[in-house]
Amino acid sequence: MKHLSKKKIIEALKDQQSIFGDFLFEEKLNKSKIIYEETPEIVEVVREPIEETPNLFQSEDDWHNANTLEELNNLIIDCTKCVLHKNRTNFVFGSGKPDAKVMVIGEGPGAEEDKQGLPFVGRAGQLLTDILKAIKFEREEVYIANIVKCRPPENRTPLPEEMDTCIPYLKKQISIINPKMILCLGLTAAKGLLRKKESLTALRGKFFDYEGIKVMVTFHPAALLRNPNWKKDCWEDVKKFRKMYDEIEM
Ligand code: URA
Repeated sequence: MKHLSKKKIIEALKDQQSIFGDFLFEEKLNKSKIIYEETPEIVEVVREPIEETPNLFQSEDDWHNANTLEELNNLIIDCTKCVLHKNRTNFVFGSGKPDAKVMVIGEGPGAEEDKQGLPFVGRAGQLLTDILKAIKFEREEVYIANIVKCRPPENRTPLPEEMDTCIPYLKKQISIINPKMILCLGLTAAKGLLRKKESLTALRGKFFDYEGIKVMVTFHPAALLRNPNWKKDCWEDVKKFRKMYDEIEM
């Protein structure tokens, strides 16, 4: 059997420590850290007090216990649960006011969103900003998120299994933000959040309930860019949305 020199053992342990962090080398009970040092006799274990370090080996489902959006984002940002992670540049968690009264939910990141890691920053995003302004909401006072957090290839509609995998993250975001109202943009958002099967024509402009939160469905801004004729109906929807908001907030 080949014997490794003390030096090699120490180097290997230090390598592991640098890759996996102190966590591997800590003894949780007496909160001490083991430091490997070379001494003339043996590989000596020196103990010194340590500060609490984060658990690097969090289980896949630790995100359920997140208390803040930041915490949740940190726990899910490296998600590989569906195939969409393979082509992403950035995981697009969401953006806006962490305790917003209004949430806006889209379908999934496009090319620009994937590049910047932020939702609705492309052309459709500009139109969304304008729609919000028209009903007296600043973009910064709402929270914007998507049904799926990674860009579907060629901007295709997310597949049912991709939606089912990602929607629990969105639901956790909703539970942390606890908004008063949600605006779903397009059929994918409506189907995903409300589990509805009807057409957008049947769903838009009405209020639904999601866990005590008032939800309205309207057109996706990208659809409005393709069909400007629908803007008028969208305007009717969002005016209604604002009216309800004002009633709730009174
Ligand atoms: N379309 C969406 O549904 N979401 C985005 O973030 C951008 C475009």
